[in-house]
Amino acid sequence: LPIHKIVVIGSGGVGKSALTLRYMYDEFHDEYVPTKIGQFSKEAQLSSEEACMIEIIDTAGEEELKIRKQQNYAISEGIIFVYAINDIDSYHRVKELYEDVMVAKTEIGQRENFDILLVGNKSDMGTNRQVLRVEGEHLASKWGCEYIETSAKLDEFVSNSFQLILSKVHDR
Ligand code: GTP
Ligand code: MG
Repeated sequence: LPIHKIVVIGSGGVGKSALTLRYMYDEFHDEYVPTKIGQFSKEAQLSSEEACMIEIIDTAGEEELKIRKQQNYAISEGIIFVYAINDIDSYHRVKELYEDVMVAKTEIGQRENFDILLVGNKSDMGTNRQVLRVEGEHLASKWGCEYIETSAKLDEFVSNSFQLILSKVHDR
């Protein structure tokens, strides 16, 4: 089966691991355990009925070595940029991370060779919302990608997000 590498990027605590664990095992944990690095894979079905392997690199939001970041960016065919809709700082951070990725991809001559998706997680926290949906949509349109609001907690649009990036990567 073809293997597709998807990297999940965003600042600490936005729910990268929660999204990954929801998608992988249909699990959710309330406690926060910061990630060092996580790597997961499973077989996935594409809408075309084809099967493939999805490999998810769940990155550390904080304190990651630059060299490891660059390596993750380099191997990724698909990148999910995650912020939390109740955390404006994470929205600003995702823009910086996008610039980092573009620099890294340009340096290795892969500027055109990958797909991205913007995710606003914690949609169940709407009463504490700090980032409007239109702000997510606006950023995504600037990046030329799609925007999805998810809740890892309530299992809303989580598998849709992974499936979407996976099918884009597979079709390229
Ligand atoms: P790092 O590994 O440090 O980069 O953080 P992370 O982005 O992996 O965040 P993580 O998945 O560990 O989630 C951080 C906290 O947010 C945990 O307490 C989760 O339970 C909580 N959380 C994650 N997703 C959601 C969500 O959709 N809704 C709510 N309400 N809480 C969430
Ligand atoms: Mg994590």
